[in-house]
This record gives sequence, structure tokens and C-alpha cells, in this order.
Amino acid sequence: GWADLSDRQQRRVRYLRMSLTDRCSMRCTYCMPPEGIEHVARSEVLSLEEVALVAEAFARWGVERVRLTGGEPTLRRGLAALVERLAQTPVGAQGEGATLEVAMTTNGERLVELAEPLKAAGLGSLTVSVDSLDPERFAAITRRDRLAKVREGIAAASAAGFRLKLNTVALQGFNHDELAELCRFAWGHDATPRFIELMPMAGGRLFVPGELMPAAAIRETLIQGLGAGALEAEGRPAGPVGPARYWRVRGGAHDGRRFGIISAMTENFCDTCNRLRVSATGQLHACLARDDAGDLRAALRSGIPGRLAAVVAAALGQKRDTHGFEIDGSGGPQKAMISIGG
Ligand code: GTP
Ligand code: 5AD
Ligand code: SF4
Repeated sequence: GWADLSDRQQRRVRYLRMSLTDRCSMRCTYCMPPEGIEHVARSEVLSLEEVALVAEAFARWGVERVRLTGGEPTLRRGLAALVERLAQTPVGAQGEGATLEVAMTTNGERLVELAEPLKAAGLGSLTVSVDSLDPERFAAITRRDRLAKVREGIAAASAAGFRLKLNTVALQGFNHDELAELCRFAWGHDATPRFIELMPMAGGRLFVPGELMPAAAIRETLIQGLGAGALEAEGRPAGPVGPARYWRVRGGAHDGRRFGIISAMTENFCDTCNRLRVSATGQLHACLARDDAGDLRAALRSGIPGRLAAVVAAALGQKRDTHGFEIDGSGGPQKAMISIGG
């Protein structure tokens, strides 16, 4: 039932993704169409106070982990104070001891300034997107020439002692020849590299320079590129973690190193879905692949007790068995990744 945040398939929600803004300093081709998105008015975006109230309610209901996303979450003033408040939020109705785990996904541009203060505020883990180590390719995918800044940001995050992951959307015909190098780059910063299959967001309005690279091709490419003897699949941990499957390199110069693959398209992970997502405007999405969402903001602003819980219960009731993404690029939402929050 809704009170323990479980759905009809007995999947329990333990992980909440919260977008802090629909703005970004970059324009990634897989994240938004070339014309950008229509930004929403300031008043329609949840205040950080409202974000905290939502997170606190979910923590009482049993959510253990919050991931801050965007757009670009570091564009939000007051971010460190929000992190500090969330990291002190008790999990469970009784406040039995554990507090929320706070993670964030960022484009890395502002980490030189923010890594230390965010670490001090209690941010536990950080994920930085980096799709290429070639400045021209980086600019082609993000529509911004900022690779050097992002590399400095990654170094700063590593030095600050975060559990660090790097995200790469793997694209055949674009960065397929860089996957092993991206692994070595990540490992050099004590980070875990992760490769993501392209998801068809925004109703076919994206112009991505490359094509979906299936998880099997990613693995094959890495075996070759890393000179690995084999890859060993790790089991899925029970905790409130995301959909990545992790693999360990066996043999060769990188024996024992690990990387992750997020394969929504060819190795569907919906049966283990443990999350809900809140957009910057307080839309509660049961699934990334669907446009329909409940209005948490209206519930919050109504001031009527119980409204928030009703929206959450409805979203859980609408959680389907699986997403609608099709290999041919159809079936996804009309909304762009930047509007939902990833
Ligand atoms: P961890 O909690 O550290 O495992 O992070 P995460 O992988 O959940 O977060 P991140 O923001 O790094 O997301 C990586 C990729 O996974 C992005 O492309 C997300 O859109 C995608 N992703 C995360 N959750 C889901 C999901 O429930 N369904 C689908 N299809 N994709 C997801
Ligand atoms: N398909 C797959 N991953 C995507 N991301 C953004 N848009 C897409 C998409 N269409 C990834 C970014 C970022 C993460 C939050 O989502 O690379 O690392
Ligand atoms: Fe910004 Fe991340 Fe979207 Fe790129 S993928 S435009 S960095 S929110």
C-alpha cells in the first residue's frame, strides 16, 4: 500500500530524484532539443523550502536517499544549505537514527568552487556527466566549449573525497572509440565510470550526433579496449540505489577495476525500480518515460493536510510494470530530460 511506498508489483520506493531547476549552463543534445525548452516562471518552481518539505515527507514515509538533479542543480542559490538540511533529515516515522543519504548529479562546471562546501554540508556522493575527453566532441554534444572547466571540477570533487561517478552517454558513431579511455580517466580520479544507453526523450525532437550503443556492444568494446580477459557481473545491492549494473574487469592491466552500465533500452531494469521523481515545478513522475505526473506543488500550496499523501498514493497507483521506450526511438515522453530531471 501507499503508506510504505510500495506499488502493485511490490516495488518499494526508497529513492527520490528531485530536480532543483529546469535551467542549465549547457545544452546537451540528448537532453533538450536545439531550440531549448520553454523555461517556466520563477513562481512555478519549487522554493528550496518546498523542496525540503517534500523530501522530509518522503523521508518519514521511508525514502532513504535523495538525488538532486536538474537542469543543473548548482545553479540554485542556497544549495549547500539545502544539502545540509536534507543530510540531517531522519528516515522513518520515528526518526530511528539513520538520516537521508544525499547525492547529486551535475555537469561539473561549478565544482571547483562548490566541491568543498558541498562536502562540508554533508553531500555524500557526486555524479558528473562527461561524454568525451576531446574538446571538440565535448562541445558538439553539450553545445558548449567547457571541457577544461569540467575536468577541473572532476579533479576538485575527487580531491574533496566524494564517492564519485562519471556518466557517459555511449553513442555509436560518436564516442564509441573513447570508452576505454574514459574508464582510465575515471579510475585515475578514483571515480566509477558509467555508460548510459541513449533514451528517446522529447518525442523525437532531439538531434544527437550518434546512435544508441547497446549494453552488449559497450561491454564488447571495453573488453577489447581495456585488454580484459573477461567481465564479471556484480549482483544488485539491496539498498536504495539507481539502475546501473556494475561489472568488474578480470585479467589484463585493469584487473579488479569496475564500471557501470545503465541500459534502459536493451536490458530493461524496470522490475527493480525503487524510485519516484519530482520535477523542478513539483510534478511527481512515477516513471521517467511518461509525461503524466501528479501535482505536488498544488498539494503543498493548498495547505490542506493529506493532499501531499494523496498525490503520492495516486502516483504509486499509476506506476506501470515497465517504461514505453522503444528501440526505434518511439514510445518515450514528449517532455525532455531536462524538464523531468533524469
Ligand atoms: P545512483 O543512485 O548513484 O545509482 O545514481 P543514478 O544512476 O540513479 O543517477 P544519475 O543521475 O547518474 O542517472 C544516470 C542515468 O540513469 C540517467 O540517464 C538517468 O536518466 C537514468 N535513470 C535513473 N533512474 C532511472 C529510471 O528509473 N529509469 C530510467 N529509464 N532511467 C533512469
Ligand atoms: N538518454 C540517456 N541519458 C541521458 N541523460 C540526459 N539525457 C539523456 C538521454 N536522452 C543523462 C546525462 C546525465 C544524466 C543525469 O542523464 O548524461 O549524466
Ligand atoms: Fe545540462 Fe545535464 Fe542536460 Fe547537459 S544533460 S543540458 S549538463 S542538465
